[in-house]
Amino acid sequence: MTTAPTTSPALTADPLQLVDVDHVRFYVGNAKQAAYFYAHTFGFRIDQIADLTTGSRTEADYLLTQGNIRLLLTTPLTKDHPAAEEIKLYGDGIKEVALTVEDAEAAYEKAISNGAECAQAPRTLEDEKGTVTVASIKIYGRVIHTFVSRTGEYAYEKLRKGGMFMPTFEKIDSPLNKYNEDHPCGLMFCDHFVGNVEEGKMNHWVKWYEDVMGFKMFKHFDDHDISTEYSALMSKVMASGNNMIKMPINEPAEGLKKSQIQEYLEWHNMTPGVQHLAFRTDDELATVAELRRRGVDFLAMPETYYELVWDRVDKMLRENGHEVVKEDHQRVKDLGVLVDADDEGYLLQLFTKPLQDRPTFFIEIICRRGSQSFGKGNFKALFESLELEQERRGNL
Ligand code: FE2
Repeated sequence: MTTAPTTSPALTADPLQLVDVDHVRFYVGNAKQAAYFYAHTFGFRIDQIADLTTGSRTEADYLLTQGNIRLLLTTPLTKDHPAAEEIKLYGDGIKEVALTVEDAEAAYEKAISNGAECAQAPRTLEDEKGTVTVASIKIYGRVIHTFVSRTGEYAYEKLRKGGMFMPTFEKIDSPLNKYNEDHPCGLMFCDHFVGNVEEGKMNHWVKWYEDVMGFKMFKHFDDHDISTEYSALMSKVMASGNNMIKMPINEPAEGLKKSQIQEYLEWHNMTPGVQHLAFRTDDELATVAELRRRGVDFLAMPETYYELVWDRVDKMLRENGHEVVKEDHQRVKDLGVLVDADDEGYLLQLFTKPLQDRPTFFIEIICRRGSQSFGKGNFKALFESLELEQERRGNL
């Protein structure tokens, strides 16, 4: 099975050359229960823990793994832990998008000299097994990027194969782990992270990613304003030099109805944050079927979507000399999966409803068959669906 694109650390001269997404940290109100949720619904392995039983006195951390994805669920154990205040303000959500680099301190110094703001100065966690160096910079709102470099038993190559995460962590097991091995969900790696920022701030963060991180506007960014009579938003996609990570940035735009981005911000203390994380699969239908069976709640598309989609997508594919969509059309419809095409191929995607009671963070399941874009052709149908959900929540 394919995993994330990586670059050999030995080849990196630029300290900001990214090797991989090291992990994604969520701040949650109850990590013990959240771990069960992500294991049960999305098939993650509950792999390692740092809590009172391992000597962690201020927070409990659960490392969940699947493919080349590492989710870290953190819950505060004391009222003074910074996560306690953030959970009060924002509810559960993504705090940290951590990036593996060759030398975390050098990456941090370079980012700071490029204009980044410090979130946490470099520090090295160490035990007899090896070291993990972490250093964090602020990005939009409450979110940080943490640079991570690893040695010994904690080395990236070992972590990727199921090795130890950091000092103070211990391996644990759960009956769900065996179940998930027998019933795989097929999630492979993080395809992209979408941030919601305030109106008028998108270009600020585009420039920030260019200046601080050396990212480029991704060649397939949606260059027209995505404003319809439905929810309106504008979006630009930033990507690291090696395209290892893609970070689209959304801002709300004036529309007839309240933008989904505006709704997010209003339930997120008017603070930017990660709106959704897309997981890559190489079999959209198998993944979505398994996730539905496990009870994942996906957005429903209007019936009319499937009356139009095949003409639109297959026409685009034929015009560009590509094979048409190979997945069974009836199954795509039965599973409620969305399809879009561009000049390079097609993609299948589907979005969950928000994963917590606040209408904030959600997950996308994406499968790429040549297409490197983000499903622009689905925005109108998607906004109609989102609008119905917003209406049900009294937020339209
Ligand atoms: Fe997306």
